[in-house]
Amino acid sequence: MPSEISGMNAGDREATRFLIDEALSYVYPAALRAVAMTGVADHLANGPLTVAELAGRAGVHEDNLRRTLRLLATRGIFEELADGRWGLTAIGQPLRADAPLTARPAILMLTERSLWQPTGEMEQVLRHGVSAFEDLFGMPFFEYVARDQQAATAFHSGMAAFSDQENAPIAASYDFPAAGTVMDVGGGQGGFLLEVLRLATGLEGVLLDAPHVVAEHRLDVDEVKGRWRLSPGDFFTEVPAADVYMVKRVLHDWDDDQCVRILGNCRRAMAAGGRVLVVDAVIPAGSEPHQAKAVDVLLMTGLTGRERTEAEFARLLEAAGLRLSRVIPTGTVLSIVEATAGD
Ligand SMILES: C[S@@+](CC[C@H](N)C(=O)[O-])C[C@H]1O[C@@H](n2cnc3c(N)ncnc32)[C@H](O)[C@@H]1O
Repeated sequence: MPSEISGMNAGDREATRFLIDEALSYVYPAALRAVAMTGVADHLANGPLTVAELAGRAGVHEDNLRRTLRLLATRGIFEELADGRWGLTAIGQPLRADAPLTARPAILMLTERSLWQPTGEMEQVLRHGVSAFEDLFGMPFFEYVARDQQAATAFHSGMAAFSDQENAPIAASYDFPAAGTVMDVGGGQGGFLLEVLRLATGLEGVLLDAPHVVAEHRLDVDEVKGRWRLSPGDFFTEVPAADVYMVKRVLHDWDDDQCVRILGNCRRAMAAGGRVLVVDAVIPAGSEPHQAKAVDVLLMTGLTGRERTEAEFARLLEAAGLRLSRVIPTGTVLSIVEATAGD
């Protein structure tokens, strides 16, 4: 009604504009994906360029590149200099494929259709309580990821890049035993295990993941030579014996029954006095922003998993014959939930 609309106060207008801007915000990751795919940032590694130079080197449309850079500059990722050339800011540097802790594979994984498209079906997920993945892709997430080597490498390299920036501080947050075997269950390409073995020099490490994943491991590093082995397998079927199990960013992929199977397999194989370290986000109470609240919704739309609270972890562990002994903060978005035998 026109009279009511004109009666809106400044606060109403601001609230409406805020929600409209929220609805528009999906264009940012779309733009981020486009520049990551076309390698735009890599061409700025040696300094700023004009849009024409940059478009020529990246092989992209000049005017559309200008518009894309202008959008991402509002997020501080690129910057336009006074002479009209464009450069990468400090925050934009990890877009480069050769940056020390590159974010590029993680950006490509997070914005790939296997994670992105199910979020577009969130209304159905909300109504019916089941993930949209199988309707869209005809199979469960990890089968889809493993459908060919290229898809698998893209996902697992993306996951490795997602984890690389957090692995060292997490490894440094825990007082690992002086000797024994540590197994990373669902450890991907081994980035976390590598950091643990670097710090805990008396430990032997085992990397357990699907055969096609461990085949692309990154453990061939002089510093840890002779102290690791691969254990290609299925953590739902069997987990070999070890003293310390690490289960990082794995339980959040699965529903409670599936988690109890994984943890139960660790419990059964665990050496006397052993422990399980669940490394995952522990969702805090309240409405503060937390990366895990966004990841949780990705998991809700695309997988069977969820992010969990401390009480939810305690229940899962108990159901698997374990007991939560403490939650250790790591200075990253993840915590270490330590568990020992429940009896
Ligand atoms: C979200 S990734 C986490 C990888 C790694 N732990 C990290 O923090 O980066 C989940 C891992 O679980 C592995 N995975 C999924 N199903 C598995 C199964 N049945 N047996 C063994 N590993 C599995 C995947 O291959 C993947 O590497």
